[in-house]
Amino acid sequence: MVLKKDTTTPSTMSSPTIISASNEYSPLRALIIGRAAHSLFPSEPPHMIRATMPTLHHPEFRPHHPFPADIVAKADQELDNFARVMTERFGLKVYRPKEVDWAKANEGRGGYTGAMPRDGLMVVGRTVVEACFGWGCRRGEIELAYHDVLEDIMEGAQKAGESVRVCRAPKIVGADTLYDGLLDDDKPEDRKDGAKQNGTFNSQNGNQTTHWAINNTRPAFDCADFMRFGTVLIGQLSHVTNPKGVDYLRAVLPAPYTVELLNTTDDHAMHIDATILPLRHGTLIYCPSRVTEEELRRHEVFGDWDLRPLPWNPEEEEEEEEKDEGPPRYMCSKWLALNAMSVDEKTIVVEERQERFARWLEEEFGMEVVRLPFRHVNSLGGSFHCATVDLVRKEL
Ligand code: ARG
Repeated sequence: MVLKKDTTTPSTMSSPTIISASNEYSPLRALIIGRAAHSLFPSEPPHMIRATMPTLHHPEFRPHHPFPADIVAKADQELDNFARVMTERFGLKVYRPKEVDWAKANEGRGGYTGAMPRDGLMVVGRTVVEACFGWGCRRGEIELAYHDVLEDIMEGAQKAGESVRVCRAPKIVGADTLYDGLLDDDKPEDRKDGAKQNGTFNSQNGNQTTHWAINNTRPAFDCADFMRFGTVLIGQLSHVTNPKGVDYLRAVLPAPYTVELLNTTDDHAMHIDATILPLRHGTLIYCPSRVTEEELRRHEVFGDWDLRPLPWNPEEEEEEEEKDEGPPRYMCSKWLALNAMSVDEKTIVVEERQERFARWLEEEFGMEVVRLPFRHVNSLGGSFHCATVDLVRKEL
């Protein structure tokens, strides 16, 4: 099969070293790796927690509730170790955020974590885009933890003579209306009217309608609901990404980048990086209970790609992990196995307990799998893809 290269990717004039990435798999040169210290369970209203978090753990999601200290400490060791491997074995430039006391964030109402930068930042070409977070507890996350990294990037770009644009999120003036008409304690009539007036949006998946936990009164999106495939970004609507958020993103992206939405059938949708995983140009793994091959093929970027469903369902897997009582996955499904991070088109970082997945990648796709411990980071809400932001990927 002859694969079209994405010739539309803007070619790099000089060779940029500070910011430049247009896909998820070209050779990585520089990245951000998060930090776990002081992570708190995100405190969002119950309807949002019900929509996005595993039922078993709902009681944990209350204000000012820190994740267990030993999990956070081990998560930081895993993140430090990951950073060391990226620097020493792969020669990558690694940026780390500042340590933030999340209990003090948002005027004392509390924040969440510095461990999941993928949700809040995205590099598209030579532009860095900050998410318009839907979650109130994540407001200020980038400013608090990543301000210095962004400054470093700007300074580095200036020195190198590269033109880089950082597109910070707009400030919300006055009350946030994103949950209007959707809260449990809204009177039913307010809820109905509020929902109508405030442009609640639903998604139709075949016969099924997903009622999202946010309305469409202001732009909301998490960067992790999008992935780059050359000049096309593939994204999804979710409990944290609304149509206005997608419009906003389209408006701030540099030409010629565009956004196409994938119809996913995930009632709990929040972040697309446990639904699709591109290994290299032309090969993508997907979660067949969340998206169909037909839906993927509808997007021209995947026209001639080898699209492979994961041939087993991690949710139904008898796990060795369960026997040795790993830390709870408070915030994610077992599809998090797909949340791997590519170093290049042949090399990928996978959680060391995901042996079946690692072996499948080696045997089916000839990948070189770097196995690293990350279960305590997983416990806080994500894996290698979530915990990173790629800043420079060298175009092939
Ligand atoms: N919602 C996904 C799942 O439970 C996990 C996505 C995590 N991604 C992230 N960028 N934090 O399967």
